[in-house]
Amino acid sequence: MAAPKEIFLKDYKMPDYYFDSEEDYNLDSRHLTLKSLPSGVFTLEILTEMYPQKNTSLEGLYKSSGNFCTQCEAEGFRKITFYQDRPDIMAKYTCRIEADKSLYPVLLSNGNLTEQGDLEGNRHYALWEDPFKKPCYLFALVAGQLESRDDTFITRSGRKVALRIWTPAQDVAKTAHAMYSLKAAMKWDEDVFGLEYDLDLFNIVAVPDFNMGAMENKSLNIFNSRLVLASPETASDADYAAILGVIGHEYFHNWTGNRVTCRDWFQLSLKEGLTVFRDQEFSSDMGSRPVKRISDVSKLRNSQFPQDAGPMAHPVRPHSYIKMDNFYTGGPFFKVNLSEFSRFQGMDLYFKRHDGQAVTCEDFYAAMRDANNADFANFLLCQEVPPTPGQPIKEPMFIPVAVGLLDSTGKEVPLSSVHHDGIVQSIANNGQPVYTTVLRVTKEFVAKAITLPGEGEIMDMMEVADPDAVHAVRSFIRKQLAHELKAELLSTV
Ligand code: SER
Ligand code: ZN
Repeated sequence: MAAPKEIFLKDYKMPDYYFDSEEDYNLDSRHLTLKSLPSGVFTLEILTEMYPQKNTSLEGLYKSSGNFCTQCEAEGFRKITFYQDRPDIMAKYTCRIEADKSLYPVLLSNGNLTEQGDLEGNRHYALWEDPFKKPCYLFALVAGQLESRDDTFITRSGRKVALRIWTPAQDVAKTAHAMYSLKAAMKWDEDVFGLEYDLDLFNIVAVPDFNMGAMENKSLNIFNSRLVLASPETASDADYAAILGVIGHEYFHNWTGNRVTCRDWFQLSLKEGLTVFRDQEFSSDMGSRPVKRISDVSKLRNSQFPQDAGPMAHPVRPHSYIKMDNFYTGGPFFKVNLSEFSRFQGMDLYFKRHDGQAVTCEDFYAAMRDANNADFANFLLCQEVPPTPGQPIKEPMFIPVAVGLLDSTGKEVPLSSVHHDGIVQSIANNGQPVYTTVLRVTKEFVAKAITLPGEGEIMDMMEVADPDAVHAVRSFIRKQLAHELKAELLSTV
């Protein structure tokens, strides 16, 4: 058999036996079929020649403003090489990156940097080994001209973790809040869930062209720059809050998503719903719980309500998909019903049972049920409306929910007269407070209260949505208010 045309990797040792002609394999757009394989256990090496600089799909390996980076969730790894690209196929990865030293001085991948060095012709290499097995959607590679903000975190068992946030040189100054957020998230996960980081290095990279918002690749999180960079001159309170929440979210995935992963993509809400719940708790603990709740509900109203009312509506757990990417919506992320139980009990059992496994939503449910010794049948909500004569197929029914408020003496508060400028308490019938929401009039709350409803929410109330008109009028009102109230607003800072 002839040797392949060109081998770029200097150290690559050709195997004794290889497939290099059409007699040896069949290749089409979806399949690679190898003929006459050796019998028994064998090692398969696949050499893939690719041109990532020509990849404009923002999936797999591609170039973003001069730097190479990857996005493999949900099914991007298959654009890098042939593989069983499913989340339940878990393996340990070793990644050797070789590149021109001036153009790509920083070479990153998952896990620990076990070797690096210079090569002939102004080239260099880095060898990364990830000791944890993982699905390929968590693979990551970055090569480019980046600089870092460095810090350290000492875990509660005393391990020193190097933290690095990588950006183009001019942006490093804008990463202070992201670094604060990362350290806060690491501490919070230890304090609240008892979960410690498991490697000695944690990297975050911010790139401008990134579809997913952010991605939880093992020890190498990649973010869209807008969710990392902030400077006091231009960032709003909402920008700071978003950075805190998303840095936390991606970090928390290390346990809910990475250590315990999904059996298949129908279980997306297992890792996303649970991790959103964790980041919401984190943001609530770090700031104002009521303001966080109001923000999350308005996020649902702005983007999820319109989707649920239109042709893109889909269940949290779909039954089939053509392209998995279409399911990264508010549904699997925000509609999952978790309670305080998840915060205090059951999580330990979930990790004890399933660390290193690819599991299902039912496995999570079972851990919660067993740890709490309770029947959580209501959590797997379903509705059956049996046919009646003349009506073979029934529409779903509304589920009635009664809501009421009582004051501190147990007297009923008419809902129309509740003022959110003090303390609102709801008391159970027996007079014991069961749930207390304290709306302190913080600046965070005032900022939220004077924010106009979002465009999605306004359009949802129109008979026929007119995006241009809504955008124009809302922007006009916003600018007008800012202009008229400039002095008052600035004097409240
Ligand atoms: N898994 C990614 C995230 O959670 C994609 O949305 O950020
Ligand atoms: Zn996520």
